[in-house]
Amino acid sequence: MSETMIEAQDLTRTFRSGFRRKRITAVENLNLAIQPGELFGLVGPDGAGKTTTLRMLAGILKPSSGQATVNGHDIVKGAEDIKQELGYMPQQFGLYPDLTVDENMNFVCDVFDVMGEERQTRMEELLDFTGLHDIRTRRGRNLSGGMQKKLGLAAALVHKPKLLLLDEPSTGVDPVARREFWDILTTLHAAGSTVVVSTPYMDEAERCNRVGLMYGGQMMICDSPSGIKRMLPGSVLALRADNLTLAEDVLKQVPDVLDVQPYGDVLNIISNDEAGASAIESRLTAAGVTVDSLRPTPPRMEEAFIYFVRQYASGDAAQAAASPTEVTA
Ligand SMILES: Nc1ncnc2c1ncn2[C@@H]1O[C@H](COP(=O)(O)OP(=O)(O)OP(=O)(O)O)[C@@H](O)[C@H]1O
Ligand SMILES: [Mg+2]
Repeated sequence: MSETMIEAQDLTRTFRSGFRRKRITAVENLNLAIQPGELFGLVGPDGAGKTTTLRMLAGILKPSSGQATVNGHDIVKGAEDIKQELGYMPQQFGLYPDLTVDENMNFVCDVFDVMGEERQTRMEELLDFTGLHDIRTRRGRNLSGGMQKKLGLAAALVHKPKLLLLDEPSTGVDPVARREFWDILTTLHAAGSTVVVSTPYMDEAERCNRVGLMYGGQMMICDSPSGIKRMLPGSVLALRADNLTLAEDVLKQVPDVLDVQPYGDVLNIISNDEAGASAIESRLTAAGVTVDSLRPTPPRMEEAFIYFVRQYASGDAAQAAASPTEVTA
């Protein structure tokens, strides 16, 4: 068995899709090493390649090129071993809507050969752990989104996997269920499991040891949350003012301002110039904005994520403008 839990080299997957069978590179030359016991977050905008990456690592989708090992098994030749050893939770509800919670769990126990007394104990444990005990006779289709996600997780844990691949396990669930879900994940992680989780929520990414930011099929950044935040250039200033729409328009014209991101009644300004607060304030005042406060604020993952994704997107736009003809392979 190799030391590294997941190791990917130049992992690439293309699809042909649509009327013209246009080629899409969903994942491109992905290099990744995840150690046992890590809680690794996979983030990126819609279509970045997170699901495709997880499906390849789960041994259910073959790469077009490149290779990867999971717990020492090659993802193509050892796909069946991988499926037995890891818990994979797909992005969509992957169980049977017509079966009850109990029946779904029994089905998964059959698949993983968890039998007899062990099955009874395991099912009780997992239904307690995920809070599904009282609704064990409810059919899959009648579960709320959050309950379906918890059933998906319980099913992924039936065979006590040391590695969990979870694809947006808390998307679309309410904040309480989301918190409960993360309490469960934290417990599993503390007990030594390796967890790879894709998420659109930056507060969740912040709870991971390391985060990989994917964009356009590529892993653009892979570092700890604090490391990623340190990569954000300049500093972040939080602005409260009477007219944030006008303030945003004004700030976009200021050369030292790299990005402006509204959050409710605050405008976060990523500025190149650490000492530029007074210059920014003068510009705003001159344009007729009444500034209530303008203070440095620690960057969050959210700022970093939005900033980097905008940077990559503007790079794409510049490239598309330079070569406007669509290339079909
Ligand atoms: N089976 C498929 N056939 C054709 N194209 C696909 C297929 N699966 C994924 N793609 C395409 O590959 C790209 C990456 O998709 P993927 O589902 O991996 O992204 P994602 O990061 O998980 O997005 P989301 O956040 O929306 O779940 C997208 O352009 C998608 O349309
Ligand atoms: Mg996805």
